[in-house]
Amino acid sequence: MKKRTTPSRKRDHVALTVKKDVAFRGKSAGFEEWEFIHNALPEIDRSEVDTSVTFLNKRLSFPLMVSCMTGGYPEAERINRRLAEACAEFGLAMGVGSQRQALEDRTYHTSFSVARSAAPHIPLVGNIGAPEVARMKDASDALRLVELIGADAFTVHLNPLQELLQPEGNTNFRGVLNGIAMLVRSLPVPVIVKEIGAGISADVALRLTEAGVRYIDVAGAGGTSWAGVEILRRAKNDRQQWDPLWDWGIRTTDTLRQVVPLKASVPGLTVIGSGGITSGMDCAKAIALGADMTAAARPFIKTLMDEGEKALHRKIERWIGECTAVMFLTGAPTIESLKRSNALAKIQ
Ligand SMILES: Cc1cc2nc3c(=O)[nH]c(=O)nc-3n(C[C@H](O)[C@H](O)[C@H](O)COP(=O)(O)O)c2cc1C
Repeated sequence: MKKRTTPSRKRDHVALTVKKDVAFRGKSAGFEEWEFIHNALPEIDRSEVDTSVTFLNKRLSFPLMVSCMTGGYPEAERINRRLAEACAEFGLAMGVGSQRQALEDRTYHTSFSVARSAAPHIPLVGNIGAPEVARMKDASDALRLVELIGADAFTVHLNPLQELLQPEGNTNFRGVLNGIAMLVRSLPVPVIVKEIGAGISADVALRLTEAGVRYIDVAGAGGTSWAGVEILRRAKNDRQQWDPLWDWGIRTTDTLRQVVPLKASVPGLTVIGSGGITSGMDCAKAIALGADMTAAARPFIKTLMDEGEKALHRKIERWIGECTAVMFLTGAPTIESLKRSNALAKIQ
């Protein structure tokens, strides 16, 4: 039988993102170019600031998702359990990593389903890659993955850059959009489409919405470089030629500004701002740029693996506190008012 490479790849991804410097090198997510306008007359009581939102029909205490990362190998069970426990504790959403391995065999199913058992009430989203979606004849496999974790939505990640640089990558992206449209029509839960760190352009967002997608996670450039991760997985003598692609992608603030305007013509479009979000201030800026939700991946797994779950909880608490402070100082009592506040100015 052909040896399955998925579990070792998923293990490599966690190890590399935690232990190596896989950040973008010459490009940031762009948040430092934006500054909130101080409101010396906020006319609200700090204790009234309400950061809660509704996402996938569930109430969150803060518009943040621990983004899709892992599953499909033995140690992933412990990681997903601890990430899910943190999400349950703080009322956040969570995604599991690509469930492709769960389609290959049942060996590590609990490494995914543990997220639901550890956090029965959070919005939890499933995940699969674009090349798998292109190959799907119908939604039956996706439905099995949704059921495996009791998912509130199913995420398709668009990762042409990663597949291009992966030694074992699949670069046949023909039919992905049709596959996504089929899933939107057939699944009982919404389909979220995300990038993984290279962003979604206005044109791609338009094509996705025309295919019926109502949840887009921009996952822009400036945080984890997935080109970087895959370059480091290649043999040493085969890295240099790929180096120019390390910083490829649309910065998070730019991709947000390309996708958010579509909300005016696509009712119900939910935009998730992610890619290089490293603080509650960044979350606040993404929301003020028009995102409905925010998400982050590497900052959470790195803290969990390097410093443990208490440090992860402290980090989430700090992010929520920072965003709450911004809302007080801009006179925005709710996330909706922060979104509509015009409180963010581009630094000249
Ligand atoms: C260890 C790790 C594994 C990941 N695996 C997946 C995955 O299986 N599916 C997916 O859609 N995104 C995956 N991602 C990408 C993240 O969900 C996210 O879009 C990307 O890392 C950018 O966010 P960041 O800058 O906050 O890390 C992974 C990220 C990390 C750090």
